[in-house]
Amino acid sequence: MTPGDLSSLRQSYDRGHLDERDLAPTWHDHFAQWLADALEAPPIEPNAMVLATADGAGRPSARTVLLKQWSAAGFVLFTNLESRKGRDMSQNRRASLVFPWLWMQRQVVVVGTVERLSDDESDAYFAERPYGSRLAALASPQSRVVEGRHTLEAAWRHFRAVHPPDEPVPRPPSWGGVIVVPTEVEFWQGRPDRLHDRLRFRLRKPNTWIVERLAP
Ligand SMILES: Cc1cc2nc3c(=O)[nH]c(=O)nc-3n(C[C@H](O)[C@H](O)[C@H](O)COP(=O)(O)O)c2cc1C
Repeated sequence: MTPGDLSSLRQSYDRGHLDERDLAPTWHDHFAQWLADALEAPPIEPNAMVLATADGAGRPSARTVLLKQWSAAGFVLFTNLESRKGRDMSQNRRASLVFPWLWMQRQVVVVGTVERLSDDESDAYFAERPYGSRLAALASPQSRVVEGRHTLEAAWRHFRAVHPPDEPVPRPPSWGGVIVVPTEVEFWQGRPDRLHDRLRFRLRKPNTWIVERLAP
């Protein structure tokens, strides 16, 4: 792994499932259950970050994604570009990231603009993904309403038959990487009495960053 490249950090998600029949009748009952579970779970996924976007009308949405590469140029993630976030980012290039490193009583908050990676860069990362994940990228129309889990599994099996494991799986054009190019990066460290430290790098003009302390 080269410095700035987190692409081989990969957890397998096999700790549970969520069926329609498992859902509590209200969102607050379900949130109460999940919060209780979260209070027991150990911290994982240091490269998980919350990506906030807004559509052309300014309607916000946020979700967790994984940081896969980074450098002084910005923060790279991979996703379906026709998803809700993908459509948001094509309508409105402004985005924000939060790294909730809560177990260290820290967060990093990024504000910036989004650019698409080149097809070659997206192809290179797609080729590194495990076979099953590459099939899922073909099978899942991310963010669309689907009839049930069975339709996703049927689509996944269909693509497995079309692209056997010993043959290349083509990257769907709807799937690719984006880089969030920062204009602000704030480092937050929790301190006693809620008198926390907040130090923000802000791009004042091209190549000139200033550091400012923000009130907690
Ligand atoms: C720990 C974690 C990591 C995730 N990583 C990604 C990711 O790297 N890319 C991605 O598209 N979705 C990822 N997701 C799923 C997103 O949170 C989200 O459900 C999906 O991208 C659809 O978002 P949208 O409908 O707002 O576009 C991750 C979810 C979790 C909980």
